Amino acid sequence: MKPQDRIILALDVDSEAKALNLVEKLADSVGAFKVGMQLYNQLGPSIVQRIQGLGGRVFVDLKFHDIPNTVAGAAKIMTGLNCFMFNVHASGGREMMTAAMKAVQEESTRLGCEPPLVLAVTVLTSISEQQLHDDMFISRRLEQTVVGWAQMAKECGLNGVVCSPHEIAPIRQACGSDFVIVTPGIRPLWSEKNDQKRITTPREALKIGADYMVIGRPITAASAPREAARRIIEELEE
Ligand code: C5P
Repeated sequence: MKPQDRIILALDVDSEAKALNLVEKLADSVGAFKVGMQLYNQLGPSIVQRIQGLGGRVFVDLKFHDIPNTVAGAAKIMTGLNCFMFNVHASGGREMMTAAMKAVQEESTRLGCEPPLVLAVTVLTSISEQQLHDDMFISRRLEQTVVGWAQMAKECGLNGVVCSPHEIAPIRQACGSDFVIVTPGIRPLWSEKNDQKRITTPREALKIGADYMVIGRPITAASAPREAARRIIEELEE
């Protein structure tokens, strides 16, 4: 994979104009664009189609979690949208993840299109071990829970996970080299940390086994976003 294809630019902006401006500037500098709840809920599927129209691949980050039949319906829509990746919560269970994969396979065969990569979200990085026990009533250790859910996702046929850089090594070990690992919390040494606490450089993330990196503000808030992307690509090439 080319280094720039590993970068997924997080479009955390509040308008279509701002999002498309970034896509126009950066479509040939990054591998994909991440559309999250804010943009998708404001603009609907048309934002995905607009980005695709400008030559960008799209990671639709909506983290589905519902009964199997409902998530299968959403997975069918994501496949029809021709997105590059979308995600579901592993905590939705085996039956839900299996239903999502079946829907993706059936719909991509019906349409004759490439199936999207389906990723599992394990324990959100905003959840501490304490909260896992006290609020979610999960008694296992956090890392065991994360790795257990990643393995379960793999058994259900999912393509990979989104996880913190600190979870890459145990997941890679448990799930093997073909399992796709996407990680946020990336900061080059020259960039602001913002509100990210446990961060990793792009080079380090690659070294420990990430396939794709979700990067937002180090590029989007830079005075010259294309130049910032170029510096990150260079760092990945070293
Ligand atoms: O601007 P920044 O590089 O911090 O953006 C990171 C992106 O990754 C944001 O869209 C954020 O919501 C997402 N993310 C994260 N940490 C997680 C999960 C997702 O930063 N644990």
